[in-house]
Amino acid sequence: MRIIGIESSCDETGVAVYDDSLGLMSHVLHTQIAMHAEYGGVVPELASRDHIRRVVPLIRLALEQAHTSQSELCAVAYTAGPGLIGALLTGAMGAVAYAHALGIPCVPVHHMEGHLLAPMLEDPRPQFPFVALLISGGHTMLIKVEKPGSYELLGQSVDDAAGEAFDKTAKLLGLPYPGGPGLEKLAAKGDPKVYDFPRPMIKNPGCDFSFAGLKTAVLNAVTERKGDLDEKVRCDLAAGFTRAVADTLCRKSERALKQTELNTLVVAGGVSANTDIRNALCALMKKRHGQIFFARREFCTDNGAMIAYAGMQRFKAGQLGTSAVKVFPRWDLTSLKPL
Ligand code: KG4
Ligand code: ZN
Repeated sequence: MRIIGIESSCDETGVAVYDDSLGLMSHVLHTQIAMHAEYGGVVPELASRDHIRRVVPLIRLALEQAHTSQSELCAVAYTAGPGLIGALLTGAMGAVAYAHALGIPCVPVHHMEGHLLAPMLEDPRPQFPFVALLISGGHTMLIKVEKPGSYELLGQSVDDAAGEAFDKTAKLLGLPYPGGPGLEKLAAKGDPKVYDFPRPMIKNPGCDFSFAGLKTAVLNAVTERKGDLDEKVRCDLAAGFTRAVADTLCRKSERALKQTELNTLVVAGGVSANTDIRNALCALMKKRHGQIFFARREFCTDNGAMIAYAGMQRFKAGQLGTSAVKVFPRWDLTSLKPL
């Protein structure tokens, strides 16, 4: 069985073909980063219009690269939420119309389930149950995953998501949108011990996070220097910030593992592409003699492969969409049906 997956929740159009027995057949992506960079963030209307331009050519390309004809497809999966409403609608309409034209079902997919299951595309793949740390631009969550589709929220950010904190801090340091990758490069040249930023909510019980105060601490350090930010200071600030985020993620992940008596951690979402954060979490799991899994870097950020994979799992469970185009800009991951 072979499915095509379409991702369009934010500023990336991704399409992939996944085969249930052969694995990932192809994946193609168009990123809108250059288009939004001059505005310092995603402009939703521009994002929607660009998805419209990209979806059909990317579907053609993904099929071509997978040496797959349309008649071999069993379903069309698409991101139905959460995300930007206009961006979601373009992908959803394309997917529903395409499925209708081919006479096959469409499968709505939860974007964060896509991220969470992306490490299942790797070899070796994680075994259930595990704790998932989801760190993206819009979400920071710790989830107990009993089995696919069975998600128990252990903790989440009470304010900014980890990726949002990266983007806002990067902006303070004069980096273009999206700031995460640029901040990582600066941090690599900095000394994380120069600025000892707070580890927010570390002493609070439970697994919730808070990142807004950390961003303010960086702002205060920048203000104190009255804008006099030479390269060394910017690198040290970036390194200190990253260390504080990494420490916080490690401490809360460890708490979640203790609480659930599990020792497997699966890390997904855009921020999990960050080498310092990957290294810190790997060190934690080494200390605990546990196992850790990530997606390959290109599947940490938004992509079609994760939607095709998650869509296949939902398809096999018979959880199909209807011909009505429905999207969910806000959608609770824990409300999903178990598989
Ligand atoms: O998962 P994702 O692609 O989209 C959402 O679902 O939100 O995550 C995007 C976020 C952005 O905030 C971006 O700055 C961050 O992931 N990000 C990174 C890195 N690459 C992407 N943050 C830190 N280091 C990176 N290398
Ligand atoms: Zn995402």
